[in-house]
Amino acid sequence: MSHADESAGSRRDFLYYATAGAGAIATGAAVWPLVNQMNPSADTRAMASIFVDISGVEVGTQLTVKWRGKPVFIRRRTAEEIDASRAVAMADLVDVKSENANIGAEADASDANRSLDEAGEWLVMMGVCTHLGCVPLGNAGDFGGWFCPCHGSHYDTAGRIRKGPAPRNLPVPVAKFENETTIKLG
Ligand code: FES
Repeated sequence: MSHADESAGSRRDFLYYATAGAGAIATGAAVWPLVNQMNPSADTRAMASIFVDISGVEVGTQLTVKWRGKPVFIRRRTAEEIDASRAVAMADLVDVKSENANIGAEADASDANRSLDEAGEWLVMMGVCTHLGCVPLGNAGDFGGWFCPCHGSHYDTAGRIRKGPAPRNLPVPVAKFENETTIKLG
């Protein structure tokens, strides 16, 4: 497969999965279907980076894309969500580590260490509950972030676990801005 073909394939996959992701939000707590992991083309995609067009993501909304067989949440946070997260004391956190693959493993879970940009508007995280792997719901839960209804885990507006059985913050994957309207995952 040529490089150009691969790019075209990734683009089609992105468009398809972005739609599928929206469905996953609407239907809620389904465990990401195992069949996706067994798709014959999954291994060829497994190592690929993808480029996500974020130009259509409004403030206060979230895009879900599938990457390396798992959902990734890309949320454009409101000023209120950023402020709420920045006001949280480290002592109130269950998991005090950033869980951010872009910075050192020992970095703390401050809001600045969770978001992708300095202003804190963009939050990119794996959409997989750290308890047993359900897909949490956005705009939900006691802390205004994400809620996993499988066993009741509440995440705050920076995706940090605050209540319930999940042990860790939602992980931030390797990600960066490719340009103003494109985020590269991987
Ligand atoms: S899988 Fe999310 S709370 Fe158990």
